Amino acid sequence: MQRCLPARNTRCHCSLLFAAILVLENQDLRDAIKPREVRFYSLNFNNTLRWQPGRAGEGETTLYFVQYKMYGQSKWHNKEECWGIQSRYCDLTEETSDAYEPYYGRVQAVSDGIHSDWSLSSRFTPWRETMIGPPTIKVLHSNKFIILKLQAPRSAYKRKRGSMIPMTNYYDLLYQVFIINNLLDEQHRVLVYEGKDKVIKIEDLRPGVSYCIVARTSVLVLGRSSAYSSRRCTVLL
Ligand SMILES: *[C@@H]1O[C@H](CO)[C@@H](O)[C@H](O)[C@H]1NC(C)=O
Repeated sequence: MQRCLPARNTRCHCSLLFAAILVLENQDLRDAIKPREVRFYSLNFNNTLRWQPGRAGEGETTLYFVQYKMYGQSKWHNKEECWGIQSRYCDLTEETSDAYEPYYGRVQAVSDGIHSDWSLSSRFTPWRETMIGPPTIKVLHSNKFIILKLQAPRSAYKRKRGSMIPMTNYYDLLYQVFIINNLLDEQHRVLVYEGKDKVIKIEDLRPGVSYCIVARTSVLVLGRSSAYSSRRCTVLL
């Protein structure tokens, strides 16, 4: 090791060594604040990038910077609304609005003047990865039987004029309708309908009994189902 003697060339060595140590420490810090688990989360094409802080945790001054690009492009684009933010998510719905194209996002953290390296998401293709939401249920009639109207979930993608594009534009959706009556236990759902109809009649029900209905959406091509909708309950006359 060099000892710092007042000779000219040794001093020069010493400061080089010092600089090298600074760079090393800097690299450690950069690694320690690098965002982790950078992922897209997507529900009905509401596409957000989310992440966790680096292993050093999050300082009070930690800010995040987000970029995105379509697979195959060489240039990254800054996401203006997520440039120097404190939250750990960024809405990239508009930037990832071609459902069939693969995208990437990446995040950089800056803390106390130290920049982390960029932390990259895995490849995200909205059409493959989005979770489909349940339909909404409206009870139109409940007397001796129940008539329901189902509405497909809407996507977060908008048409030029501003209206939301329904998920049925992208997938062939099936609905599953379940009934829960108050004589059965809460978890016991009986499938009463499966298909594409939007208006459904449920018969052979008992008067004076309260029934609750839940539904979910299923996407055959992806082999997936949505979560259950909220319940609609009704008592038959
Ligand atoms: C996505 O969902 C978030 C939270 O539910 C909401 O605040 C945001 O406006 C949605 N984005 C779009 C483009 O609909």
